[in-house]
Amino acid sequence: GERKPFIAGNWKMFKTAREAMETATALVNRVSDVTGVEVMIAPNFTALTAVYDVVRESAVRLGAQNLFWEAEGAFTGETSPNMLRDVGCRYVIIGHSERRQYFGETDQTVNKKIKAAVEHGLAPIFCVGETENDREAKKTFSVLDKQVQNGLKDLRSDDVAMLVIAYEPVWAIGTGKTASREQVQEVHNFLRSLIEKKYGNELANSIRIQYGGSVKPNNIKALMEMPDVDGALVGGASLDADTFSKIIHFQ
Ligand code: G3H
Repeated sequence: GERKPFIAGNWKMFKTAREAMETATALVNRVSDVTGVEVMIAPNFTALTAVYDVVRESAVRLGAQNLFWEAEGAFTGETSPNMLRDVGCRYVIIGHSERRQYFGETDQTVNKKIKAAVEHGLAPIFCVGETENDREAKKTFSVLDKQVQNGLKDLRSDDVAMLVIAYEPVWAIGTGKTASREQVQEVHNFLRSLIEKKYGNELANSIRIQYGGSVKPNNIKALMEMPDVDGALVGGASLDADTFSKIIHFQ
């Protein structure tokens, strides 16, 4: 297909700048042979500059884990899209379930952040996903529909063309419980159909949808075989260069 597989590592709140640099250096060496897969790592803000120095000459892309939508101002503790561009970020993770759960992120703040990112040339990795309660109550599809409709409110096709969607069922994150590949395929197909309804066939066929939630070297291949799975957003298993490299070499 035309969708290049995209495997991203979300390092969450792990690693000092020095540790991040060391892992990034090892990763760059281990994946220097990879051409058919796009690779990204998202270290903590404090490590972005150091990691960019390591990856800038390589094919490994840099991403941030969050941003604020204003360009600048009196917003203590926040980071603007331009600041992220300035330190080499090409991607930014937006609306991760941990941010929704612990830091008051809502569909509305997610929408503002997506708009600000694309306006400044940062490609958003837009995270959606249902909780275990949602799934048990058979609300998975209505919850995802709401997250997508609200998250993409007022976005034009040009903006959405920059987007990557990450489907992360909250019950599968960091739990060791991977969703079955049939469950993942069903949701990815549903998400693609939502994009098709809003933005048409061409955009729906080109947008990449990653799966996230306990992705490991031993389950990536089966997931990637599903027609609507275009990559992975990897947490725990991306922290070690050797393990993450095995995931990237899934083929
Ligand atoms: O962003 C990554 C996801 O939250 C998945 O994390 O691979 O540790 O389950 P995990």
